[in-house]
Amino acid sequence: MKIGIIGAGNIGGNLTRRLTALGHDVSVANSRGPQTLTELAAETGATPVTAAEAARGAEVVVVTVPLKAVPGLPSGLFDGAAEGVAVIDTGNYYPKERDGRIAAIEDGLPESRWTEQHIGHPVIKVFNGTYAQDLLDKPLPAGHPDRLAVPVAGDDEAAKEIVRRLVDELGFDTVDAGGIDDSWRQQPATPVYGLRAGTDEVTKALAEASRERSEAFRA
Ligand SMILES: NC(=O)c1ccc[n+]([C@@H]2O[C@H](COP(=O)([O-])OP(=O)(O)OC[C@H]3O[C@@H](n4cnc5c(N)ncnc54)[C@H](OP(=O)(O)O)[C@@H]3O)[C@@H](O)[C@H]2O)c1
Repeated sequence: MKIGIIGAGNIGGNLTRRLTALGHDVSVANSRGPQTLTELAAETGATPVTAAEAARGAEVVVVTVPLKAVPGLPSGLFDGAAEGVAVIDTGNYYPKERDGRIAAIEDGLPESRWTEQHIGHPVIKVFNGTYAQDLLDKPLPAGHPDRLAVPVAGDDEAAKEIVRRLVDELGFDTVDAGGIDDSWRQQPATPVYGLRAGTDEVTKALAEASRERSEAFRA
């Protein structure tokens, strides 16, 4: 598939490594420009691009930048994307350490809904609770008893299916975590956040989540 990755840090860098190794055609962008991505490009074979170019022709786009950077992404980000493009959001709100206060999220708006409003496109929320290093170290083949599972939330069922197949290809099981209105169940400090477990435990953890935002993740 043609895949655009916006953000080349812990998560974006490792997804670039894994997705190129699987044979996908990956374009990758950061905030400083393609000339700063030559090392990652040489290592992986991905094409360094600007953020505005990353979605061009893409069937899947991954948005993996700090939440506070989302409003500054170029407008019309998905204008040249393939029809039915699936947009993955790995983002988390870290008000104290990184993102500052975002009133709508403090008031209860799911983090991914806020991101959707800024980028102007529905998203599929996945990998937000996965340690970046696990993308390299933890993949296992389907059916393996120790295979880890991750929750996947989103309103566009066709896009969600594309993403679930891709996550399976990356070596993880998926649990359907509902729509974006339900996606608070996988936000920071919930039982599933950072959980390294299989499908049954992930399903249970999602069910046990509380909507109350913990103090550590309030501004
Ligand atoms: N780290 C983890 O283990 C982990 C796990 C799950 C989810 N997450 C979440 O995933 C998101 C990304 O996390 P991360 O740890 O990968 O972040 P990170 O290592 O800080 O990397 C952020 C990347 O975003 C790029 N960026 C910032 N503003 C941009 C812009 N306007 N246009 C294009 N690229 C831009 C940065 O580019 P420059 O370097 O050029 O500024 C950098 O490549 C966060 O919301 C985080 O909470 C992280």
